[in-house]
Amino acid sequence: MTAAIIDGKAIAGDIRTELKGEITELADKGVTPGLAVILVGEDQASQTYVRNKDKACAEVGIHSEIYRYPADLSEEELLQKIAELNNDDQIHGILVQLPLPAHLSEDRVIDAISPEKDVDGFHPVNVGKMAIGKEAFYSCTPYGIIKMLERENISLEGKHVVVIGRSNIVGKPAALLSLKESATVTVCHSRTKDLSAMTKQADVVIAAVGKAKFLKKEDFKPGAIIIDVGMNRDENGKLCGDVDFESAKETAGAITPVPGGVGPMTITMLLYNTVQSAKQKA
Ligand code: GUN
Repeated sequence: MTAAIIDGKAIAGDIRTELKGEITELADKGVTPGLAVILVGEDQASQTYVRNKDKACAEVGIHSEIYRYPADLSEEELLQKIAELNNDDQIHGILVQLPLPAHLSEDRVIDAISPEKDVDGFHPVNVGKMAIGKEAFYSCTPYGIIKMLERENISLEGKHVVVIGRSNIVGKPAALLSLKESATVTVCHSRTKDLSAMTKQADVVIAAVGKAKFLKKEDFKPGAIIIDVGMNRDENGKLCGDVDFESAKETAGAITPVPGGVGPMTITMLLYNTVQSAKQKA
């Protein structure tokens, strides 16, 4: 039996359609959700991400403003802009694209964003609320994974979820949100001894490793659900995940492809968080 392929692109499309409906309802109340994106420097990947976020906003009817600054922007100027956006009633979400140039403190910059507009879910207030199981803005990639599983009717209750990766953006929040869904959670990372022994015990593996086709069929229990957060290039320059999809799908219960799995969910959850923020204000 081959695995069910989880179509993240289709699920993201469904959620975006629902958001359009919510945005129409908000328009009746005179509210247009607004997202401000700040991009500092010339990082190529960041430029692409920001362009895609802007396009996605336009598609669903979210007003977006992009602020582009040269790499030598002072921290004072950046904090000043954030303060201005915190006080702007047209803006419901503020996102500072990471990574920032080395002379800028990511911690100070994130701390400066009003938690009520932190649609990335990076502010310590939102991270803290997530950790104690409260409603908050949750980091978009892990939140997208939770929503995707929900739409596929895959419950995490009582399941053993093995997360590989401990970043603040993906691994840690994926673990906390899985715990909130009543999973038993193991967090593995680059120093984990015998990773394969861990993943083989998993009912669900969430892989955020950053190495092309790092996990093979043999690393999973038959029937396991495999969520691949990887965005890598293979030996032919083709986009691929952390999991060797072709082999793993032979025995998995369900698996997300790359591209077309977790990726489309990330920006969708940014739109989702921005709409929720506007609804809270309306
Ligand atoms: N850089 C890479 N991923 C992200 C993200 O989700 N949000 C922001 N702000 N920057 C990123």
